[in-house]
Amino acid sequence: MPVIELRGIKREYRMESKSSSKNGADAIIVRALRGVDFSAESGEFVSVMGPSGSGKSTLMNILGCLDKPSGGTYTLDGIETSVSDSDTFAYIRNRKIGFVFQSFNLLARTTALENVELPLFYRRRGKNEDRGASWNRSGSARKERATTVLREVGLEQRMDHFPSQLSGGQQQRVAIARAMVNDPAFILADEPTGNLDTGMTLEIMGLFQELNKRGKTIIMVTHEPELAVYTKRIITLRDGELVSDEQVKERRNALDDLAKWKQDHALLSEQAPAEQSPAEEAS
Ligand SMILES: Nc1ncnc2c1ncn2[C@@H]1O[C@H](COP(=O)(O)OP(=O)(O)OP(=O)(O)O)[C@@H](O)[C@H]1O
Ligand SMILES: [Mg+2]
Repeated sequence: MPVIELRGIKREYRMESKSSSKNGADAIIVRALRGVDFSAESGEFVSVMGPSGSGKSTLMNILGCLDKPSGGTYTLDGIETSVSDSDTFAYIRNRKIGFVFQSFNLLARTTALENVELPLFYRRRGKNEDRGASWNRSGSARKERATTVLREVGLEQRMDHFPSQLSGGQQQRVAIARAMVNDPAFILADEPTGNLDTGMTLEIMGLFQELNKRGKTIIMVTHEPELAVYTKRIITLRDGELVSDEQVKERRNALDDLAKWKQDHALLSEQAPAEQSPAEEAS
């Protein structure tokens, strides 16, 4: 059974034009998605690409249960979301999807550990629960669960740090741990490395590859073809339609590329001329 199954997904925005008469005859319909079919199995790692305005954000909002389509059906982990009431819809969003954003979205006055624990407080039992998970029962169980996922992202040494005491890459690791803490059906990442330099970008892509190897399903929006080659499959949108869907043929390993990048970087800084001291400059 696929984790995600989209059938004929449409999303239309109705814009009342300024000159329109009261009966709305002049309304403009923007067809942001025009019947998208897409499904993903457990364990996939998919890039969503396409030019600006092609419908990527619209599709992400629908995949993330932040928005409902105007037409078509979306089945997530066997649950038909289009017909669900708003409670069920919110439950699916909180429990089945782990969000990772470009801007990390961590709480500033809250430690890494507390940021990761947060989704466990909001966790409510759904109608047809549960897989026997015990980490929502007590404070110590929550802490243990949050510690486990922070360890999985390599941050066990930084659990008591506040976001401002962490590098961008480390902050994004905290956000990834937070996305995983409820053991979601998939991780939905929107330009997750958009605010990171090359080294940190490769680190985060390496972490995603590692998590994916351990079975996590990941859907990632990216503008950059050089990042898409770290995923396993690329879908491309154009004008609201899915125009291509391909497996990545020559998949790259992000940690290998990181090692190479670090080597080149070290060479470069060795070759750079030593900085002049102010005294030398003055003379
Ligand atoms: N709330 C809205 N009301 C009206 N039209 C909208 C709305 N949101 C998006 N659109 C339109 O839908 C189309 C798809 O927009 P979308 O934001 O999904 O594109 P995108 O692929 O994410 O672009 P970008 O790469 O620039 O983020 C665009 O033509 C856009 O103008
Ligand atoms: Mg967008």
